[in-house]
Amino acid sequence: MKNQFSIESFIKKIPKAELHLHIEGTFEPELMFKIAKRNNIKLRYQSIEELKEAYNFSNLQDFLDIYYQGAEVLIKEQDFYDMTLSYLEKIYSQNVLHAEIFFDPQIHTDRGIKFSTVINGIYNALVDAKEKMGITSKLIMCFLRHLDEESAMRTLKQALPYKDWIIAVGLDSSEIGNPPSRFKKVFEQARKEGFLTVAHAGEEGPAEYIREALNLLKVSRIDHGNRALDDENLVMELVQKQMPLTVCPLSNLKLAVVDKLENHPLKIMMKKGLYVTVNSDDPAYFGGYLNENYLEVQKALNLTKDDIYKLARNSFQASFLDESEKRKLLDELEEFTKQY
Ligand code: HPA
Ligand code: ZN
Repeated sequence: MKNQFSIESFIKKIPKAELHLHIEGTFEPELMFKIAKRNNIKLRYQSIEELKEAYNFSNLQDFLDIYYQGAEVLIKEQDFYDMTLSYLEKIYSQNVLHAEIFFDPQIHTDRGIKFSTVINGIYNALVDAKEKMGITSKLIMCFLRHLDEESAMRTLKQALPYKDWIIAVGLDSSEIGNPPSRFKKVFEQARKEGFLTVAHAGEEGPAEYIREALNLLKVSRIDHGNRALDDENLVMELVQKQMPLTVCPLSNLKLAVVDKLENHPLKIMMKKGLYVTVNSDDPAYFGGYLNENYLEVQKALNLTKDDIYKLARNSFQASFLDESEKRKLLDELEEFTKQY
């Protein structure tokens, strides 16, 4: 790699993929107020500024309370479409070529919104983004782990007619006290139906939850996974399996998983041979999209261009694209690094 460009411009321009992104977490206050207005919904905050002031979280639950409130203004298919397209336009400007996007249907179906309204709105935006901007994407349906397994099972049934649009199921929401083992049956059923599986584990919860996600839910990736570092044997197993961990630096900072970015474990994880990627999680709430995550963690940990290149390469390799699509994006990455 040549050296004439700054690391900032290298980060902004390098082709990359996003593998850990909640679509409801991309809902920017400006769009939230606009959609609330057209749906005649009164938000409990008087202004965008007042809402943004509430974005001061001490832990995951603090954030989730506000995140679920924000999603309540989404009523019509058009609302889901607008939110999704607005995210895709944003990442187009950041050289994100591929995105694997979580959605939380239970947030909406529990409020009486139809599953079809949610998924049609999101999916149509993905189709349009592919056509207009060439961005490829996959959808991952998450189950809310603070709800019970029966609710997850009903959600899985609702998703079956849309099987071709959804690559995997995942597990998110309040982690502590809601171990992966509670969802063993619904994940088993999802795998039988042909879905891949992923799960949030080891964000706030213990390393043991990561083991459960691997052994009971048979995941293809772990979302977050920071707490794996508490257990050397688990680290060895994750390295040996080359199990991808979708790490989210700014999320970890905003939810107090780390006290400052300089103490973020990303570099240690890389040094140990863990298969990590960098992701934005809920960018509208955590103060940065994918490039800001790369930029800030690079600065805090003094990552090299080669580290950034490895993270970008991992993001394509750990994706759920098929081998030929992966090859195409990896070739674009190689082309880029030749110029830089
Ligand atoms: N963790 C768990 N659940 C979530 C998150 C997260 O970071 N974002 C949205 N739902
Ligand atoms: Zn997440």
